[in-house]
Amino acid sequence: MCGIVGAVGTDDVARAVFEGLERLEYRGYDSAGLALCVEEASGATLEVMKAASAGTSLSELKDRIGTSERRRVRAGIGHTRWATHGAPVLVNAHPHTDCSGRVAIVHNGIIENFRTLRSALVEAGHRFRSETDSEVIAHLLEDALRGAPPDVALASVFAQLSGHMAVVALLADHPDLILAVRRTSPLMAARGRGIEFVASDVPAVLHRATQFFEVPEDEVVVIGGGSADMVAARGLDDLPSPAIDWRSQDVELGGFASFYEMELAFGAEALAQTITSLVDEHGGALMDELALDPYELKRIRKVVVVGAGTSFHAGLVGRFAIEHFARVPVEVDVASEYRYRDPIVDEGTLVIAVSQSGESLDTIVALREAQAAGARAISVTNVVGSQLARIADGVLYTRAGPEVSVASTKTHLAQIAALHLLGLWLGELRGVLFPDEASQRRRELTEVVGAVASVIDARGAIAAALEPLTVRERFFFIGRHVALPVAMEGALKLKELSYLPAEAYAAGELKHGPIAMLDSDAVVIALIPQDRLRAKALGNLEEVKARGAHVVAVCAGEPGRVAELADTVIEVPAVSPLLFPLVGVVPLQVLAGSVATARGLNLDRPRNLAKTVTVE
Ligand code: AGP
Repeated sequence: MCGIVGAVGTDDVARAVFEGLERLEYRGYDSAGLALCVEEASGATLEVMKAASAGTSLSELKDRIGTSERRRVRAGIGHTRWATHGAPVLVNAHPHTDCSGRVAIVHNGIIENFRTLRSALVEAGHRFRSETDSEVIAHLLEDALRGAPPDVALASVFAQLSGHMAVVALLADHPDLILAVRRTSPLMAARGRGIEFVASDVPAVLHRATQFFEVPEDEVVVIGGGSADMVAARGLDDLPSPAIDWRSQDVELGGFASFYEMELAFGAEALAQTITSLVDEHGGALMDELALDPYELKRIRKVVVVGAGTSFHAGLVGRFAIEHFARVPVEVDVASEYRYRDPIVDEGTLVIAVSQSGESLDTIVALREAQAAGARAISVTNVVGSQLARIADGVLYTRAGPEVSVASTKTHLAQIAALHLLGLWLGELRGVLFPDEASQRRRELTEVVGAVASVIDARGAIAAALEPLTVRERFFFIGRHVALPVAMEGALKLKELSYLPAEAYAAGELKHGPIAMLDSDAVVIALIPQDRLRAKALGNLEEVKARGAHVVAVCAGEPGRVAELADTVIEVPAVSPLLFPLVGVVPLQVLAGSVATARGLNLDRPRNLAKTVTVE
């Protein structure tokens, strides 16, 4: 969850580390800190700066870093924290140092055996300053460095740590390098002009890097690194180098008040880029990147989709398309639950892991579990070279560009499109769909981009129509069939950004209990595609209206009687029912942003959340 960045080189390293921190704030805003290796005539020392003041940590650091910039700094590391072990206070902020102050580390993940390690270190005379699990690494490294070169020392320390994590170390005795190692948790390396980087996320260094590198698991990688006698570490040139085509302006707020609003505004572009990369000009499938044997996929007897949060909701939408087009049974599971239900998996199972970041630990673990049981695995992810992209048998990239906002918007649209296209392709492979029909459906998806753009363009008017809701405090989202996951996503967005109670229900399920909660304070938001279930949706509107709830309908096409029953109607284009989620979710994204803004909340810093959840 925490953000990590490190830099080594002749360029302005202190500034580069700080810029990385600014770009990693979405990883955790409990505290921020950095350590710089400052070279002076008397030798090198580590200068550590930390701040843990709500909302102002980075500006505090910026003032302090100004003075360090003028000194000779060739290596530095930084960290933004999402607290797990130890309160979000200054003493627990990273980097953590050893007793001598000559070793500094930053860490992301959880050290499951840290209590045992800490007790042994305390007994051996080490003095701890924080309550974190992370600090043990600095002290272990202090001891290990006495008898081994830095890379061997870090490797031996890392072997003692249980759990999934990434660690980056800075050593005063080796001022021209930093060391990095990871297990499951994200870490990539990069190179720019006169500078090398390591970072938990691409956006941290996108503006300076020209080449990216994958950091392998359980192997120490040296960044920079002239002087030390490395025995086992790999340098950047030994690592795979994926092509990353993200633009640095996509991680800068070009006139928007927040990344949330900016990324919402770019939803249609994200959708279009994803579709263009997966569909050729004749409506044919472009699935080469999937790199899976089509004959193998043809024999699939069951599909299981796993994901978390917004990605899970995309999976729920995708189930309708895959079952409809490919006529293969689809299960969809919350990734964190999947492995614990002792799932029935065999060689006839295709597991699809959906994840924007490609780094959600729950989703990684679910995919690995299924693979171990014999399943073939595809990941649908937005991040080239991410963990899920690497461990799956095949990968389908969404091309939404970098997503910085903690609350996802544009990538959700791209995920739905990718799963829709996967369903069509499986349908073709399995002989359920004629190629012409599949191409026709692909063209239909391409045409929906314009419809989505029209809803996004109308976001000002939608926000104005929904303005009366910004003072409301209790929300229910309802939908049937493919509109149910849209309702779930709407409720999640509102909860994430405004912290208000918001629940989603299958519209037909409401009368089996939840309707008891409805009164005139409740807002019910009904998602209504233009499909064969319209009459049922109208029945549900009657029910909630009769209980005095304030009713908002997000309705595809001509509202007709919906307009008589709802207090507010947001009309979206009448698209084919399976594609309704693409147009239906946008007003809900707008609503969540408006309610949170009206409540004075920062859309890019939702309470208690971090962009990528790398702990179980
Ligand atoms: C989305 O708004 C949320 N921040 C969250 O639910 C997110 O979708 C979830 O953590 C999964 O992330 P991933 O797609 O990167 O795996």
